[in-house]
Amino acid sequence: MAVWAVLVAAGRGERLGLDQPKAFAKLGEDPLLAESLRRLDDSGWVDAIVVVAPPGWEEPAILLAEELGCGKVSACVGGGAERADSVRNGLAEVPPDAVAVLVHDAARPLVSDEVIGRVLAPLSEGWDGVVPGLPVSDTLKRVGADGAVVATVSRDGMWAVQTPQAFRVDVLRRALASDGGATDCAGSVEAAGGRVKVVAGDVRLLKVTTADDLAKIASWLRA
Ligand code: CTP
Ligand code: MG
Repeated sequence: MAVWAVLVAAGRGERLGLDQPKAFAKLGEDPLLAESLRRLDDSGWVDAIVVVAPPGWEEPAILLAEELGCGKVSACVGGGAERADSVRNGLAEVPPDAVAVLVHDAARPLVSDEVIGRVLAPLSEGWDGVVPGLPVSDTLKRVGADGAVVATVSRDGMWAVQTPQAFRVDVLRRALASDGGATDCAGSVEAAGGRVKVVAGDVRLLKVTTADDLAKIASWLRA
């Protein structure tokens, strides 16, 4: 089963608020993108990688992959306006004979071989998509624009989902072709009628959104 990874790194990083895109923010010595790229390249599960870079940053992304010696990088393409557009651009580089694809956010640098194994395994049991998640532990409230609580929502069965998300390639291609604006790939697959399973995620798959997240992940790497 050939496994391809599409590493989406094309976001602007507006909430991080730097001059350069988030993928090129420094995490220790290297750009943020380097950490997930190196880990995917080192993973025994992954056969080939497509990097989706911010438009205009394809060249620096290729140079980075070369510097890191990431020999599995097969293509580097520019992203689109929305995350789903970037995933679509990356998937266009995945060949027809690929069976499974992992879609991963470069904003989650600490991807591990363990979680990759966990999301890939159920694909051979007939699932269309598999996502890592963590059960929600805080109390959930629906809040109106004025800050008033509208309702307390049961957290029973509620999970916060992460990436890497694994899919059968044909299923994800079809789902994204008719996407109605889901916020993750799994949402597109669900909307297209696909069966998606949640497996245990990892707190270390924290997504870098703000400078605090970047500092926290840097401290985990130093520990
Ligand atoms: N992403 C992408 N293309 C887009 C938007 C997002 O490839 N048009 C990627 C980001 O690079 C990131 C992942 O999707 O790896 C998750 O997105 P998010 O954390 O929202 O990153 P940004 O969109 O860059 O950040 P912000 O929303 O603060 O601008
Ligand atoms: Mg975003």
